[in-house]
Amino acid sequence: MQIIAHRGASGEFPENTLLAIEQAIQQAADGIEIDIFAVDGELIVIHDHHLARTTNGKGSIYQYSLAQLQQLDAGQGQTIPTLWQVLQLLHPTTLWLNIELKGADTVAALVALLARAELQLQFDCSRLLVSSFNHHLLAELAVQRPDIKLAALTASLPLHYAAFASALNAYAVNCDVSFINADFVADAKARNLKVYVYTVDQADDIARLRQYGVDGIFTNYPARSRQLVLVL
Ligand code: G3P
Ligand code: CA
Repeated sequence: MQIIAHRGASGEFPENTLLAIEQAIQQAADGIEIDIFAVDGELIVIHDHHLARTTNGKGSIYQYSLAQLQQLDAGQGQTIPTLWQVLQLLHPTTLWLNIELKGADTVAALVALLARAELQLQFDCSRLLVSSFNHHLLAELAVQRPDIKLAALTASLPLHYAAFASALNAYAVNCDVSFINADFVADAKARNLKVYVYTVDQADDIARLRQYGVDGIFTNYPARSRQLVLVL
């Protein structure tokens, strides 16, 4: 069962920052999950479009330029990173990256950025998994980059998940821990889908999900969750 650091090692460090990602690398996570929005055609790493919860800014990211957003404090002296900075940080490692598309204009910016990363960093895009609750964005990405792995993200009991996963030719289904059960995992696996589950920090959930045979968990505490996977 893989350990994916949810917004980096966000239980102990400011979420979606380079520090939280560096710490997740130190803690030997298998993958990193981050959230992205597009501003000025650049992709920034942040979970909410409102700034107040995670930075010292106010209002929406869309009221500011990229340069202004990069002046904000995202905690412990961190700034809001760009996706480019995250790719640079991960490039020398073996970790994979789950990019969750949050904002409407993310697809065009992502396609351009990935082309640049392949050219300038020789970044291997097979290390990416792109997910979104907005399956229209995933369908748009699939047209332009059919090689990129997609995860259909679900927030409630996904009764019709098989239809949209199939329409997207998805690689994975990313599920909420609060509704997942053994039958769902067995059904998804029979459809050749990986199953990743969010957000999993509790020992009882880790034990249950391991029994179901899920492929990975998104956790805010990668080191602690890894230990639990080993001892439970
Ligand atoms: O991608 C899994 C999980 O991060 C989705 O929910 O709200 O934490 O972005 P959220
Ligand atoms: Ca997310």
